[in-house]
Amino acid sequence: MGSRIVATGRATPRTRVTNHELARRMDTTDEWVRTRTGIEQRYVMSSGESLVDIAAEASRTALQRAGVAASQLDAIVVGTVSSDFGFPSFACQLQHRLGLDTIPAFDVAAACSGFVYALSVADSTMRAGDYERLLVVGADALSTMVDWNDRSTAVLFGDGAGAVVMVREPSDRGVLGSLLRSSGAYWDLLYVRNRGVRTTIDAEARRVNEDAIRMKGPELFKIAVRSMEDISRKVAERAAVPLEEIALIVPHQANLRIINAVAERLGLGADKVFTNVNRYGNTSAASVPIALDEAVEARRIHDNDLIMLNACGGGLTWGANLIRW
Ligand code: UT7
Repeated sequence: MGSRIVATGRATPRTRVTNHELARRMDTTDEWVRTRTGIEQRYVMSSGESLVDIAAEASRTALQRAGVAASQLDAIVVGTVSSDFGFPSFACQLQHRLGLDTIPAFDVAAACSGFVYALSVADSTMRAGDYERLLVVGADALSTMVDWNDRSTAVLFGDGAGAVVMVREPSDRGVLGSLLRSSGAYWDLLYVRNRGVRTTIDAEARRVNEDAIRMKGPELFKIAVRSMEDISRKVAERAAVPLEEIALIVPHQANLRIINAVAERLGLGADKVFTNVNRYGNTSAASVPIALDEAVEARRIHDNDLIMLNACGGGLTWGANLIRW
């Protein structure tokens, strides 16, 4: 008995910001951002917008495509580090926004690996026989945590949410396995001290730098490549799946150069890797489910294909899921 993703959905804030627009606000260029990261534009939160609303929109799309009523859900798991509150959790707010009550709803905080972690947790609980239908969401708004005067981080992040509906079923299809890793020793490669202090791009008040996201980019770059290669090999090995049988990798979209380096090390051609970092930037826990939704929509994923999701982010955390679609 395993768990299978039966539908996906995504949503973003309204405001689209191009590299050219950022170049008018800070000392950067479209050329630098495009060549160093692959990013051309991103969607960012404006004041008055709610990430919970955006996650609810992505969730409703996935539920509708799955033919599952929200009232049929047994639990909600959200990968996020962007709750407006220290508590309650983002998942509890989303549960209420979807008009639900009493079903368990909880967050998994693993930064950019949040969705890969949440999917693994969801799959385990379904295998244990606890739940029949689950909503798994990745939602983040890291643009609200950057210092818009710090070009080394402000150009990288975008906001959004992706959602999947999972059902428990006796089938060879579904999640074949997941592997998760973390290393707290590297906590200071990417962190934000006070997530309660939030500002959107259009806010008058500027964030003070001590409260903004801090990142040691080049060091993180090298570890991201190594760890995503390693975890991808291990999750495939454990499922006895040769890497060449993977039809598509849907990786965390932090940087096109990281994605390409991981694919090259795994010996997989560009046709086997889905990328959309050019249009979204790094949406943290939302990046994998947004990319998965677009890959499904673009018919890059077919029934019975072997699909791998992988990610690395603050924590450090990293992980991979192997799925027979
Ligand atoms: O999602 C979690 C995982 N996240 C990651 O894995 C991110 C990993 N790291 C990266 O993606 C890259 O390290 C960055 C995109 C963050 C930075 O790229 P880089 O090629 O490692 O650049 P760098 O930090 O070594 O900076 C190179 C130069 C520096 O100038 P000097 O010292 O060589 O004169 C920076 O000041 O580029 C400069 N720079 C910029 N220039 C224009 C840094 N940011 C910018 C910018 N525009 N936005």
